[in-house]
Amino acid sequence: MRREILDRIDRLRDICDLCAGPPLAQDLTEFEWLYDKVERLQPSTVLEIGVRYGGWLYCLAPAFDKYAKICGVDYPDEHSQIRMKVYRALRKEGFTIRHICADSTDPKTVLEAGKYLQWPIDLVHIDGGHDYETVKKDAENYIPLGKMIVFHDIANRDYGVKKVWHELRRKYRAEGIIRQVNMGIGIVHA
Ligand SMILES: C[S@@+](CC[C@H](N)C(=O)[O-])C[C@H]1O[C@@H](n2cnc3c(N)ncnc32)[C@H](O)[C@@H]1O
Repeated sequence: MRREILDRIDRLRDICDLCAGPPLAQDLTEFEWLYDKVERLQPSTVLEIGVRYGGWLYCLAPAFDKYAKICGVDYPDEHSQIRMKVYRALRKEGFTIRHICADSTDPKTVLEAGKYLQWPIDLVHIDGGHDYETVKKDAENYIPLGKMIVFHDIANRDYGVKKVWHELRRKYRAEGIIRQVNMGIGIVHA
């Protein structure tokens, strides 16, 4: 496992100040596979749908362009306080961040994110609502805005992501990694 990912997870734990639960809800081998690809892309615009604590953004950020512009979308929820801390840490590193507190499927959210990041967006992560209808809508709305679109939990039988992922694979150039049957990462190259 790459040292920089493990260091980042350690730092994230300190920032979040969480006594229980992983601040990064990812299988590390899958995450490292993604990290390598994002590092090659060096995205200067990044959109994440479903930020929760901001763990994915924080741990992947060293692979972004140094001055990347980031936009996160999530509801105002119990994670907001921790998320703000993570955003603050990322801003200190030179990234520009805007958070949209809204439903990702609302057309106003799609427009706001697209305008802010001036689509096409280099990297989009779709990890918000995991039911079929929400993932389907997010895919329809955000794939046209992005270049590299990442989906999490493509293998989990309990989520609608799996079905959407199988539909997308027939339509787009796509690749994925599944190391854990309840997780998995998929990438659509639009
Ligand atoms: C699995 S968590 C995201 C984890 C995060 N991407 C990471 O890897 O660190 C899913 C998040 O999506 C948010 N969410 C669910 N449905 C959403 C929607 N329709 N619009 C915006 N956010 C949504 C939840 O509030 C939650 O924070």
